[in-house]
Amino acid sequence: IKRIGILTSGGDCAGLNAVLRAVVLHATSNKGWEVLGLRQGTAGLMARPVEAELLDPYAMSSVLLRQGGTVLGTTNRGDPFAFPMADGHLLDRSEEVIEGYRQLGLDALIGIGGDGSFRILRRLAQQGGLNLVGIPKTIDNDLGLTEISIGHDTAVWIATEALDRLQPTAASHDRVMVLEVMGRDAGHIALSAGIAGGADAILIPEIPYSMERVAQKIDDIKRQGRNFALVIVAEAVTTEHGEPVTVTHVGGKATYGGIGHYVSDRLATLTGAETRVTVLGHLQRGAPPDPRDRVIAQAFGVHAVDLIDAGKFDRMVAWQNRRVIDVPILEAIERYQAVDPDGTLVQTARGLGISFGD
Ligand code: F6P
Repeated sequence: IKRIGILTSGGDCAGLNAVLRAVVLHATSNKGWEVLGLRQGTAGLMARPVEAELLDPYAMSSVLLRQGGTVLGTTNRGDPFAFPMADGHLLDRSEEVIEGYRQLGLDALIGIGGDGSFRILRRLAQQGGLNLVGIPKTIDNDLGLTEISIGHDTAVWIATEALDRLQPTAASHDRVMVLEVMGRDAGHIALSAGIAGGADAILIPEIPYSMERVAQKIDDIKRQGRNFALVIVAEAVTTEHGEPVTVTHVGGKATYGGIGHYVSDRLATLTGAETRVTVLGHLQRGAPPDPRDRVIAQAFGVHAVDLIDAGKFDRMVAWQNRRVIDVPILEAIERYQAVDPDGTLVQTARGLGISFGD
């Protein structure tokens, strides 16, 4: 091994720069390799000239540890196998990406991504014989075989802090506050933040709910003499009738946002309470990483370099039982991890009297 590349792919999150720094420090100082940072995920390898920069360990100041986002930039989810061209049609540009890897003379590639990115990177690796190692990141924490992915802990912290800030204003105005948090398909952020932030009800896509039951919970709270309530809802939750609520942005892309307003309106109607809704959105992604994300990011970065050194490819680093291990990337994608409705955290919440509306 002489030279490796690293890219960040898919939605950004807290801790990506900390991984980058760890990889560069370990690979250059301890292994004597060169590390090239690829711009904008696979788009950097597709560009001509290829958009990559040699990452200097002396430039890897500890500022990066603290910095949110990714200094490399990330793909805007542009799939090179179906790349949207200016005129709207989709073109397979995978060979250009593979050629970019070859032009740079890379011996291996570290891809930091979630399940969508890993599917694409694996396909590229298989088609072009690239030596790929994956590092899991997703605020949604829904990748399999790893207890934690980079960015999740910070997102939970931000959502918890939002509840901390909503509680006093809720109490001051006798209101029910509804907080909508991210989680494209899974309710991990809502569940953890709901427990940490003292929510009265948690709505997640993994547990079907009835709005009447949530309203009943609010009524009970009122009867017991408390004048406010906090409800946290994951963006992937549908209406009780299974209809998705999404907001479509210009360009036609349907993304998160909407269910919080629905829940707020329905609760106001059913309980007569005054309700307000907060959609936390991308505030959950752009923050400086919290200590746990920094530690995990750096443990993952160091292990990924060691995997390359050992010639182990098509593996993803993972966190299990207090240590970093590595697992087949494909298995991590296939063992998608939604919230377990019978798992410890759901049981904890139930034990605390938090309602799931079921
Ligand atoms: O997958 C991470 C995530 O933050 C989801 O929680 C959210 O649904 C989505 O990305 C938002 O994507 P975008 O940044 O493209 O709006």
